[in-house]
Amino acid sequence: MIHGGAGDLASIKNNRTAIRYLESIRTTLEYGREILAMGGSALECVEVCVTLLEDDPVFNAGCGSVLNAQGKVEMDAGIMNGADLTAGAVASVSNIANPVQLARLVMAESEHVMLVGKGAIEFGTKLGMKTIEDNYFHTETRLKQLHAAQDKNTTLLDHEALADDKFGTVGAVAWDYGGGLAAATSTGGIINKQAGRVGDSPIIGAGVYADNETCAVSATGYGEDFMRTVIAKAIADYIEITGADATAALRFGIDYLRRKVNGRGGVIMIDRKGYCASGFTTKKMIHGWIEHGGEVSCGF
Ligand code: GLY
Repeated sequence: MIHGGAGDLASIKNNRTAIRYLESIRTTLEYGREILAMGGSALECVEVCVTLLEDDPVFNAGCGSVLNAQGKVEMDAGIMNGADLTAGAVASVSNIANPVQLARLVMAESEHVMLVGKGAIEFGTKLGMKTIEDNYFHTETRLKQLHAAQDKNTTLLDHEALADDKFGTVGAVAWDYGGGLAAATSTGGIINKQAGRVGDSPIIGAGVYADNETCAVSATGYGEDFMRTVIAKAIADYIEITGADATAALRFGIDYLRRKVNGRGGVIMIDRKGYCASGFTTKKMIHGWIEHGGEVSCGF
């Protein structure tokens, strides 16, 4: 199951734009299906799916990342393996094409869970990851979005009405043939954010969480709302305590997000039996899923 961000999506003005999103979601899901069919793990699956979404400029992650208040790209990403609760995350990184891959390196090659900023980039380059020029990220569209937010003296979710285009945080959750669950989330954050601001995406238990005994979760929206409710872990704990399935746990999570902080955004999840669920408090969320090897379903 994958998502491409939540928000107003008012700027999806025509079918052509909508089709562009749905094509990307569908293609990514089919890659994910192939990886699992070939015996790949849920962890490999979510890393590849999020990499593909980071490489697609229509989403707010990797090359499509939005700009902070200084006109710079600072990205966050997190990944978690439900088999053993190992996790890796990076925050406030620049000049990295695929932050989710750097997060996976942190998970696999360090004793730590999270590295930030320059230290994270140095860690990656030591292990052979290439840095990439600023102009890979910076485009006229991102600048226009930033100026729109600055004119209003606010921060914006990439899918809000003021944003001229639609660039959503991305995430993936997967359940493999061995019953393994994994989750990954990656983002450029929110438009016109304070330099150094970190959102929920790399925070284990907030924007990303996986445990084979409960579920895998990825969130999108205003990170501050998800951090304050630790929403991904709250959903997992609900399953742990009540034995609920994905649909009931998702309902609990969205109600909790709304009731506690009037939170803005959405969540995708797969439970320990491979059932998918999604929900959002914003008008829309770009997402899609393949449940138990069935047909691709996707929508807003
Ligand atoms: N949910 C992405 C962010 O707030 O950074």
